[in-house]
Amino acid sequence: MVVVNRILITGATGNIGGQILSQLPATGLQVRALVRNPDVAGLPPHVEVLRGDLTLPETLDRCLDGIDTVFLVWVAPAEAVAPALERIAKHARRIVFLSAPLKTAHPLFQQPNPSRTRAELVERLIETSGLQWTFLRPGMFAANALGWWAPQIRAGDVVRWPYLAVPTAPIDVRDVAAVAVRTLCDDAHSGTEYVLTGPQSLSQFEQIATIGSVLGRSLRIEEISPEDWLSELPGFLPSFVAKYLLDAWAAAIGQPAFVTSTVAEFTGLPARTFLEWATNHAAQFRA
Ligand SMILES: NC(=O)c1ccc[n+]([C@@H]2O[C@H](COP(=O)([O-])OP(=O)(O)OC[C@H]3O[C@@H](n4cnc5c(N)ncnc54)[C@H](OP(=O)(O)O)[C@@H]3O)[C@@H](O)[C@H]2O)c1
Repeated sequence: MVVVNRILITGATGNIGGQILSQLPATGLQVRALVRNPDVAGLPPHVEVLRGDLTLPETLDRCLDGIDTVFLVWVAPAEAVAPALERIAKHARRIVFLSAPLKTAHPLFQQPNPSRTRAELVERLIETSGLQWTFLRPGMFAANALGWWAPQIRAGDVVRWPYLAVPTAPIDVRDVAAVAVRTLCDDAHSGTEYVLTGPQSLSQFEQIATIGSVLGRSLRIEEISPEDWLSELPGFLPSFVAKYLLDAWAAAIGQPAFVTSTVAEFTGLPARTFLEWATNHAAQFRA
């Protein structure tokens, strides 16, 4: 095993990057975070924090100076991908990209949408960049429940949601990060891609009911139409994201979720269940 000791984490203030920083060993590695606003980043003290913006290539050289391996989260516009990757390839040797299950033949993952097109572009450019690469392909994050259901659950006992019968295999971001840390620290994963899911296929209804049982509350879970959902959206999702979620759920009706054992193979522990995730985040569902 080759230990990489200079790692740059992007998306460090987000779900996965933040977890990676808290799981990366504090010694034996030089860990740097690229953030847009260091003043509010609130990152652990062993992390060197530098200001950078993936859409502003001139800010990247300083962040990349002396870096071996980059963890890349890309949520910025597609037109900024090529210039950023050019800078990354000039400095780094390896890249681990947080992608999605773009090649998995399950309808939940095969609907066209702008986020998918952008991830395909990032992958294409990485593959021709000369960098050694690893693609991580997690399915739905359990953490989506915080944005999707917590506002309704904090406000009362009724949760209104479309496509309640559709199953997914929600993955705990701690498990995505655990795999990411191993791929960042070990050269053996170059040229490989890993589809990561939670351990169980659970319908959206079952996921909401699990949160209710963790809270000790009996939630009234009501199926609503996609049209009602779109008109009731309290603005927590951009409408194009809502639209592609609806397309993915509609396509996945009647199919069990796609489940892999990759997390357990990497960590030696079973992937965390949605019940564990909900228990860990119960406070965020309480008023
Ligand atoms: N949610 C899911 O179910 C799911 C499933 C599979 C794959 N994914 C993929 O996961 C990725 C999102 O990961 P996440 O949830 O960990 O992220 P996140 O919590 O949405 O946070 C986004 C991160 O990107 C940073 N960022 C945004 N614009 C930037 C820019 N121009 N330059 C530098 N940094 C910038 C943000 O930093 P600031 O603090 O500066 O805003 C933040 O740290 C997406 O690519 C998504 O497609 C998500």
